[in-house]
Amino acid sequence: MSDDEQLEPLSPTLQNVLDQQSLRWMFVGGKGGVGKTTTSCSLATQLAKVRESVLLISTDPAHNLSDAFGQKFSKTPTLVNGYDNLYAMEIDPTGSIQEMIENAQESGVQSHLQDMAFAIPGVDEAMSFAEVMKLVKSMDYSCIVFDTAPTGHTLRFLSFPTVLEKALGKLSQFGGRFGPMFQQMSGMMGMSPNQEDIFQKLEGMRTVIQEVNAQFQDPEKTTFICVCISEFLSLYETERMIQELTSFHIDTHNIVVNQLLHPPKGSTCEHCSVRSKMQAKYLEQIHELYEDFHIVEMPLLTKEIRGVDSIKEFSELLVHPYQPSE
Ligand SMILES: Nc1ncnc2c1ncn2[C@@H]1O[C@H](COP(=O)(O)OP(=O)(O)O)[C@@H](O)[C@H]1O
Ligand SMILES: [Mg+2]
Ligand SMILES: [Zn+2]
Repeated sequence: MSDDEQLEPLSPTLQNVLDQQSLRWMFVGGKGGVGKTTTSCSLATQLAKVRESVLLISTDPAHNLSDAFGQKFSKTPTLVNGYDNLYAMEIDPTGSIQEMIENAQESGVQSHLQDMAFAIPGVDEAMSFAEVMKLVKSMDYSCIVFDTAPTGHTLRFLSFPTVLEKALGKLSQFGGRFGPMFQQMSGMMGMSPNQEDIFQKLEGMRTVIQEVNAQFQDPEKTTFICVCISEFLSLYETERMIQELTSFHIDTHNIVVNQLLHPPKGSTCEHCSVRSKMQAKYLEQIHELYEDFHIVEMPLLTKEIRGVDSIKEFSELLVHPYQPSE
């Protein structure tokens, strides 16, 4: 876009996400403490009004969907109290390969599997991700909101499809049903037939991962919502995140700027006035840098946002911009 070409600013709400019926996967990400969980719960709340059913998944090891809703969740979807079509679950992004190794231990293939599995960085997490995706894909939710782990972690999570695909590509060259060479080799290496099952399992996961990968890179189906606060570091992190998402071909066109201060007119509190000036400065930069994004400004409330009622109330501000009272 040329400098003199002024575009109408995009609407400052997440209405575009609610309106895009084809969207199935929505990721909410940003640095710890900026308000990812609050935003994902709020987005899920708004989606539940306009979709048949919504699943909210936390992949943050510090699970806080339970804290936000004041209800205990597990690794199976549970209806959230106070809704009739919003479900939530919390998953541990590690752990699944440990289970497989423990099972393999009993059948005596432990050491080989362990060697192979950990030879490729990220493969253990990728596999548990694949398992979750297989489960989620088989379920019939209209859309799925991911409350992701803090930056860095999040992006690793999104690169899993690629990681696992590469790893499996290599492994399948040796895999069970993949020709006599493996049979010979497995004889030589003293592998048991059980190992073939494991290769088959890995192959199955590769298929899931390939499908998931294709969906995540389709902007009709997937989008990533960035959450930040109006400070230098958070802005910097957001830019880095957006660049990485772009490199993974994952669509992103919404930024939620959370925890904005609105000192009442005539307020004499220096702390508030200094901080809100600083926030205004970075907010201006955000608008300049991300002209092609929806910038959603969320106020810092004086009370904690916990429990269904306060989440529902806060969630309205995602679609009806906050108007500071005079
Ligand atoms: N706009 C806001 N106003 C008031 N409190 C907020 C706001 N956004 C988040 N919080 C509170 O800040 C804390 C961290 O928010 P959370 O959504 O859990 O962040 P994250 O998931 O990014 O770590 C929570 O206690 C939450 O209730
Ligand atoms: Mg959180
Ligand atoms: Zn103050």
